[in-house]
Amino acid sequence: MSAYTDLTARLPGTPKTWLITGVAGFIGCNLLETLLRLDQQVVGLDNFATGHRHNLEQIRAAVTPAQWSRFTFIEGDIRRLEDCRRACAGTDYVLHQAALGSVPRSIEDPITTNGANIDGFLNMLVAARDAKVARFVYAASSSTYGDHPGLPKVEDRIGNPLSPYAVTKLVNEQYAAVFARTYGFKTIGLRYFNIFGAHQDPNGAYAAVVPKWTAAMIHDETVWINGDGETSRDFCYIANTVQANLLAATVADEAATDQVYNIAVGDRTTLNDLFEAIRSILEPRFPHLREFRPSYRDFRAGDVRHSLADVSKARTLLGYEPTHRIKEGLEEAMDWYVADLAPRP
Ligand SMILES: NC(=O)c1ccc[n+]([C@@H]2O[C@H](COP(=O)([O-])OP(=O)(O)OC[C@H]3O[C@@H](n4cnc5c(N)ncnc54)[C@H](O)[C@@H]3O)[C@@H](O)[C@H]2O)c1
Repeated sequence: MSAYTDLTARLPGTPKTWLITGVAGFIGCNLLETLLRLDQQVVGLDNFATGHRHNLEQIRAAVTPAQWSRFTFIEGDIRRLEDCRRACAGTDYVLHQAALGSVPRSIEDPITTNGANIDGFLNMLVAARDAKVARFVYAASSSTYGDHPGLPKVEDRIGNPLSPYAVTKLVNEQYAAVFARTYGFKTIGLRYFNIFGAHQDPNGAYAAVVPKWTAAMIHDETVWINGDGETSRDFCYIANTVQANLLAATVADEAATDQVYNIAVGDRTTLNDLFEAIRSILEPRFPHLREFRPSYRDFRAGDVRHSLADVSKARTLLGYEPTHRIKEGLEEAMDWYVADLAPRP
């Protein structure tokens, strides 16, 4: 039995209180759905900077009324310490997801990104430490590898950050390590590599590639590839990410804490491959995609050329076993994409 199968069998009989920051966002609301289905108590904090009320409504519709009644939502801002303290009070585990994502957003507006991602992160660390939560798990990022040329990426070999966003995620890890050394408050950072799945926002200038392209293909709009399409990523389905968070929050081995982990699959997919994977999955439902081709334009500033994770550390110390490779994830998410992305607002 995998560590995660064992954990999800045990959790309903031993309910805990979990705080999810960024609960109205993509990863946060997926964590919410899984935890409510496992009969856990959940507190959620969000200021709707990039998250949406409709994500919370969709989770409400997906769980039972009894499960939904175990969720408390706090509309608040991690840049305010008192909001963080209120949210942390009485919680066992913190899954800190709230941040402003997107490399281009951080290049255009580094101050706002810094406020949420560094000031907000520090507030959450202080609040969680003072509330004596059992475990603080936070969203780190593959952007921390920066200009390091090594592939696959191994946790202890990082380069220089290539964007303000990458600086903020690196500083998060440094603050987390200092909190372990200074206060004995041990955390776990999960370096996510391109996560995708249901509830990921397809709209706006800073949308992630999978929902943006899926929406464009469904609507017969131009799909732009930045560069020659041979840029590659380790795309990770949301179910793998949820698994990693729950394992990190509950892992008993002390040696597994005060660490950061790559969370991905260990598969390399080029943008050209990704385009073809989405197109071929959609084609049976959208025949106009038979002859559909992408358009190419310049490379984007701040993007790394290749990204591929070595996930053996998470396998060994957390018992992480990714259940979905990219195609399985796209297929599982496709019903949501079609239902949610097909109608144009
Ligand atoms: N999606 C990915 O591929 C990916 C990759 C690496 C790291 N991450 C990290 O994972 C986390 C979640 O990302 P996501 O993809 O779900 O993004 P998202 O934008 O969908 O979710 C982030 C949530 O945080 C909330 N938030 C932002 N600033 C806040 C503030 N000041 N106070 C309270 N709430 C605030 C937003 O409203 C949103 O609901 C982020 O920390 C992000 O940097 C994501």
